[in-house]
Amino acid sequence: MNPALEIRDLSFGYRRGGEDLFGGLSHTFAAGAVTALTGASGRGKSTLLYMLGLMLTPTAGAVILDGKDVGAASDADRSRIRARQLGFVFQDAALDPTRTVLDSVLEPSLYAGIPRAVAECHARARLEDLGLSARADHRPGEISGGQAQRVAICRALVNDPVVVLADEPTGNLDRGNAEIVLSALRGATGQGRTVVIATHDPFVIAHTDHEVAL
Ligand SMILES: Nc1ncnc2c1ncn2[C@@H]1O[C@H](COP(=O)(O)OP(=O)(O)OP(=O)(O)O)[C@@H](O)[C@H]1O
Ligand SMILES: [Mg+2]
Repeated sequence: MNPALEIRDLSFGYRRGGEDLFGGLSHTFAAGAVTALTGASGRGKSTLLYMLGLMLTPTAGAVILDGKDVGAASDADRSRIRARQLGFVFQDAALDPTRTVLDSVLEPSLYAGIPRAVAECHARARLEDLGLSARADHRPGEISGGQAQRVAICRALVNDPVVVLADEPTGNLDRGNAEIVLSALRGATGQGRTVVIATHDPFVIAHTDHEVAL
């Protein structure tokens, strides 16, 4: 049984006394399913994803993974959980331009303390799954936007995380590439993984199992 990801009475404000996003939102994200986070631009989709990804700390409420409030854990614990249990796909892929595709994909494994030879093996397997083996030695400037987004997904999946969080992963893609990216994220729900996608794209929303409208 995979750990459930849950938010309880969650609120967040970027500035003390400023506007409060979410206002006490509670939700349990289904394991083995894809959930869309939707809402108008500026409503807080990325912010919520950053809290689920333990990159921002809630102002109030809890982020619960496997029964523990990880939202309030120490920096060291959050880093460890991020490295081992969470995979994050940033908007527009956000790949390091100086690294090869292979190095970008295996980097999270090195953070998680996995030996390089093992990490490389996992990374090559993910690249193979997404049809990117021939691009392993390329740099981000030498691949297409759709390929870059697929590389970002390989990177998010390389440590076999229990939770995958993706911020507008199909934002700048044509329909064909959007379908490839979506099916990779759908594939990631195997073994009970929880997948959460922030999106405003009706095509993506139509292909998810649940929707949390902010
Ligand atoms: N670092 C920051 N400091 C202060 N305010 C911020 C910061 N980042 C975002 N905001 C504000 O918080 C609100 C939510 O932003 P967020 O990026 O989460 O929205 P979003 O739903 O992802 O929007 P989009 O669909 O445009 O990506 C917005 O009003 C934004 O201006
Ligand atoms: Mg956003």
